[in-house]
Amino acid sequence: MAFMKWDDSFSVNVAEIDQQHMKLFDMINEFYEAQRADNHLALGHLLDSLIDYTKFHFSAEEIYFDRFHYGAAEEHKKIHQQFIGKVGDAKRRYDDGGFVISLEITNYLKDWLVAHIKGTDRLYSVFFNQNGLI
Ligand code: FEO
Repeated sequence: MAFMKWDDSFSVNVAEIDQQHMKLFDMINEFYEAQRADNHLALGHLLDSLIDYTKFHFSAEEIYFDRFHYGAAEEHKKIHQQFIGKVGDAKRRYDDGGFVISLEITNYLKDWLVAHIKGTDRLYSVFFNQNGLI
């Protein structure tokens, strides 16, 4: 059974964004498998890929915030920046050899993403739909 499994309860009702969230689920599942296998090399690469794709995804949302003048944009962007900062810092420590990627870290990524999609991201659903994004 997959570590993260997509279902409709994760939908923000915008197809493009749902696809990006699904991709993040897949990436965290790969990360989980590498962590279980203790594959140090793969974990480093997967963490880089996860950071890159997360940045791409956050910026995709933020472009719509700016385009539609979304009222909660600044707060949402700040949450994105904090997450990127935290994961980027973990990667730097990992590269320096002072950080072990444990199941706890993998669970943190999963829990953060679930809470963010179902909490913060959900808040823009109706607003994006009203602006013609579905
Ligand atoms: Fe889907 Fe705000 O990240």
